[in-house]
Amino acid sequence: MEINSYSTWLEVDLNAIKQNVARIKEMTGTEVMAVIKANGYGHGARPVAQAVVAGGATWCGVARIEEALQLRRAGIACKILVLGYTPPAKVPEAIEQNITVALIDPELTKSYLDYAHINGGTLHAHVKVETGMGRLGMQPADFPPFLRELADSNVLVDGIFTHFAGADEPHTGSTLRQLKTFNTLLAELDAEGLKPAVVHAANSAAIFNFPEAYFDLVRPGDIIFGMSPSPSIQLGPEFTQALSWKARIISVHDFPAGQGISYGSTYVTSKQEKIGVMPIGYGDGFRRIDNQQVLVGGRRVNVVGRVCMDQSMLQLDGVPGVKVGDEVVLIGRQDQESISVDEVADRWGTINYEVVCGLADRLPRIYKE
Ligand SMILES: Cc1ncc(COP(=O)(O)O)c(C=O)c1O
Repeated sequence: MEINSYSTWLEVDLNAIKQNVARIKEMTGTEVMAVIKANGYGHGARPVAQAVVAGGATWCGVARIEEALQLRRAGIACKILVLGYTPPAKVPEAIEQNITVALIDPELTKSYLDYAHINGGTLHAHVKVETGMGRLGMQPADFPPFLRELADSNVLVDGIFTHFAGADEPHTGSTLRQLKTFNTLLAELDAEGLKPAVVHAANSAAIFNFPEAYFDLVRPGDIIFGMSPSPSIQLGPEFTQALSWKARIISVHDFPAGQGISYGSTYVTSKQEKIGVMPIGYGDGFRRIDNQQVLVGGRRVNVVGRVCMDQSMLQLDGVPGVKVGDEVVLIGRQDQESISVDEVADRWGTINYEVVCGLADRLPRIYKE
């Protein structure tokens, strides 16, 4: 069945994303900030933003101000927090577009104050606290004086947050240590009447492992897309993977024994073999490694020979009647077989996050409601 005119494409199940967000809201009983940076974890920022809002998310979290501005241009009206670094020169746009920025450093905040003062208006901000991730954020000791300085300025601190380094590994104790540092600071700020209104910390792994880290708002990314943040966390059937990656076979040849396949002839046919071509290569975010599998005719088939930039070859002897135009599934379900993003990540020696973030822009995204 022809569903589109593409030779390869991604299918994104927006209803799955919506249901996943609704499930997170129900699980945590808090507001949800859907983290949809890096083009919505490769799924496509705008449609994903619409789906998470439909699922009940009140915030979107992104890494860069450009991502936030892109969402505003696309008509996304919910609250948006830039979780990473915002260049001071972008402060006027953040004010104008009502985008909340993260305060990650006292010196940088002074530049934000200058820009906000010159341009007028109020810059909304959440302060980021470094409690043990060893990445961005201010030290707890900086806080009371820092927040006092900002009182009555054009920078309105309406939130405070931290990020966990190992919430998927509860046995190490690292998250509990981070939480202790964070809670101590919150108590101190509360006692001085300086505690910002919105407190948040929990990423996907913490949502599963640390209910005590829910605070006012949770900040999931991976589980929104129905992916597990770690092999140690099994998502129940109430979470659905939103992504499928498909293609059509564009060529099939019966090669005699001794035919080298692809660059370097690293695979040579040992008998007469049916070899198909799928129009996918490392230019699409596929990996140039050996031992990969895809689904054709509801069966697993091997990718043979070197993966090229735009094509890869498939050993099709096990698929009776296979022909040009047949569907290939790299991620997703075909009949009784399926390949998860995690399976691909395992083959590639990485995590599901990197697989989806690496999907090339040139892959058309087809959205299913
Ligand atoms: C600051 C921050 N919060 C939340 C998240 C969401 O993490 P996850 O996708 O593991 O839920 C990320 C993602 O890297 C992040 O950097």
